[in-house]
Amino acid sequence: MHFSVKPSTARLGAFVSGLDLSQPLLSGTRAALEAAIAEHAVLVFRDQPLTQDQQIALARSFGPLDLGLKRVKKTASRFRYDELLDISNVDVNGEVAARNTRRVVSNLANQLWHSDSSFQKPAARYSMLSAITVASEGGDTEFCDLRAAYDALPEAWKRELEGREALHYALHSRFVLGDDDYTDEQRAELPPVAWPIVRTHPDSKRKLLFVGAHACEVVGLTLAEGRMLLMDLQEHATQREFVYAHHWQPGDLVMWDNRSTLHRGRRYDLSERREMRRTTTLDVDGDAGGDHATHAEEPSAQTA
Ligand SMILES: [Fe+2]
Repeated sequence: MHFSVKPSTARLGAFVSGLDLSQPLLSGTRAALEAAIAEHAVLVFRDQPLTQDQQIALARSFGPLDLGLKRVKKTASRFRYDELLDISNVDVNGEVAARNTRRVVSNLANQLWHSDSSFQKPAARYSMLSAITVASEGGDTEFCDLRAAYDALPEAWKRELEGREALHYALHSRFVLGDDDYTDEQRAELPPVAWPIVRTHPDSKRKLLFVGAHACEVVGLTLAEGRMLLMDLQEHATQREFVYAHHWQPGDLVMWDNRSTLHRGRRYDLSERREMRRTTTLDVDGDAGGDHATHAEEPSAQTA
C-alpha cells in the first residue's frame, strides 16, 4: 500500500498519511513503517480512531505485547485486554477520577522523561498511543531524540561513558513522586536491570544515549555521583533542539521507538477528562547488537 511520510520541522518525528490502521497491515507496509520509524523515531497518524480490538491487532502485527507495570500491580481495568494500558484520569466506572486516587498519582509518573519499560528485559520497542479524549489545554506529549543527543555530546563525555551501565528500576519513578505503597513482593517482582548508557540502534546503527526516569544508579559509581551523572545526561538529551512536541487531536495515533527516544506527557487540568490508550511491543531481541548488558543482581537497599 502506498503511503506518504512527511518529516516534522523538529529533529525527529514524521506525519504518515494514506493508511487505514483499522485494517490488517500487509507485511510490506509493516516493513516500510519499521524503516520509517528507524529514521524518524516518532510517527504520527491523524484520524485513526481505533476500537480496542483494532488497536491490539495493530500492535500485535509488530510483535509480542508488553504489560508494563501491570506485572507488578494488577489493577482493575475498563479495557478488554491486559495489554491495553489506560493512560487516563478516568476510573473503572468511566468517571473522572479524584486527583488523590492511586490511578492519577501513578499516571503522573508519565510526565517524567522516560523510555517505556526500560526497567525490564526485554524492554519496550514500539509504543502506540491512541487519543480518545484530549485536554483542552496542555497534555501534549514530548519526545526527545537520543541519537541526536549522543551525537552532540562532547568527545570527552563520549569516552567517559563508553562501557558504562545504568540500573533501571521499575518503581524508582514512583518513589520519586511519593508513591511507595508497594509490598516487598511487589518491590522484588521486577528487579533492576542494567543497560549500557551508550547503545547502538540495531536498525539505524546510530549510537544513542539511553537514560530516563527509570535509571536510578550508575554501575561502579556511588549513588550520588551516578544520579548526578544521570541527571546531567538527561538534561543534555532533553534540550529543546532535540524535542518534538505532539499536540493531540482526538483520533491521533502516535507510534514511537523506545530505543531511540524518551518521552513525557505534559501537565493538564486533572479535573478535566483525558483518555489515551497505549499498546507496546516487547524488544524481544534487544540484548543483541553489541550491547552486552546483563541482568543486574538483586535490588540494592538504595533502589528497592
Ligand atoms: Fe510512557
